[in-house]
Amino acid sequence: MNLIKVKDYEEMSNRACEYLVKKIHELDNPVLGLATGSTPEGLYKRLIEKYNSDEVSFKGVTTFNLDEYVGLSKEDPQSYHYYMMDKFFNHIGDISSENIHLPNGTAEDLEQECKDYEVLIRKAGHVDIQVLGIGKNGHIGFNEPGTPFTSRTHVVELDESTRQANSRFFDSMDDVPKQAISMGIETIMESKEIILLVSGEGKAEALARLLETDAETTEDFPASVLRKHNHVTIIADEASRLK
Ligand code: F6R
Repeated sequence: MNLIKVKDYEEMSNRACEYLVKKIHELDNPVLGLATGSTPEGLYKRLIEKYNSDEVSFKGVTTFNLDEYVGLSKEDPQSYHYYMMDKFFNHIGDISSENIHLPNGTAEDLEQECKDYEVLIRKAGHVDIQVLGIGKNGHIGFNEPGTPFTSRTHVVELDESTRQANSRFFDSMDDVPKQAISMGIETIMESKEIILLVSGEGKAEALARLLETDAETTEDFPASVLRKHNHVTIIADEASRLK
C-alpha cells in the first residue's frame, strides 16, 4: 500500500482530485467507484472546480457508488442518491445520466437489485479506480466487521456504531435506516485501483490498525483486506496519523 501523507483535509482533497483527473485523462471511458460521507465532499468540490475551468470532462465517464440506504427514495435528502446529485452530479454538465449508478434502496426485490448491480459493474468492465473512506470500526462501503471477504453486493444490517456516527445527518437516531445495500468486499477488491481517503483524528485508530505491519488481515477489521490488493493508495492527513 502506498501512503501519501498530507497536511490537512484541503490537501487530501486536492491530491485526490489531481489523482482522479489524471486517471480520467489517461483512460478511455473510465469507470469510477465513488463514496459518500464527509470525507470525499472536498474532493467533489475540487472536481467541480476543475470541470468549471475546463480542466476535466466527464464525457464517457461511468460511475458506481458503493452504497445506499434501504428504504430511502432518491428524493430523500438523506439518501446517497440525493447526496451525489447535490454535491457532485448536478454540477457536472457533461456526464451522461445513464452512466451514473447507485444501488436502489427502494427496490421491491432487494436481492435482485444487488444481483443487477453486480451485472452492471461487470458489463462496464469493472471499476478502474475506487474511492473509499473508512469507518472507525474499519468498515469499507457498508461492509461491517464480520462481513466475509468473499461478499458481493448485498443487503447489510448497519452496526449501531455506524448508525450512531451517521445520525449527525438525520433529525433523530430513529430516522437512521437499519439496513443498506453495499458493494461487497470482493466487489470492491475487483477494482483495478483503490484510493482510500483518511482525515481527522477520529480515524487515527483505524488507520494505525490498517498500517500496522504485523497486524492480522481479518474479517473483524474489513479494511485490512486492502493489504491483499496490489494497487492501493492511501491519502491521509496529519490528524489521522496521530498515535
Ligand atoms: C460511504 C461509505 C462509508 C464511508 C465511511 C466514512 O459511501 O461507504 O464507508 O466512507 O463510513 O464516512 P465519513 O467519510 O463520513 O467519515
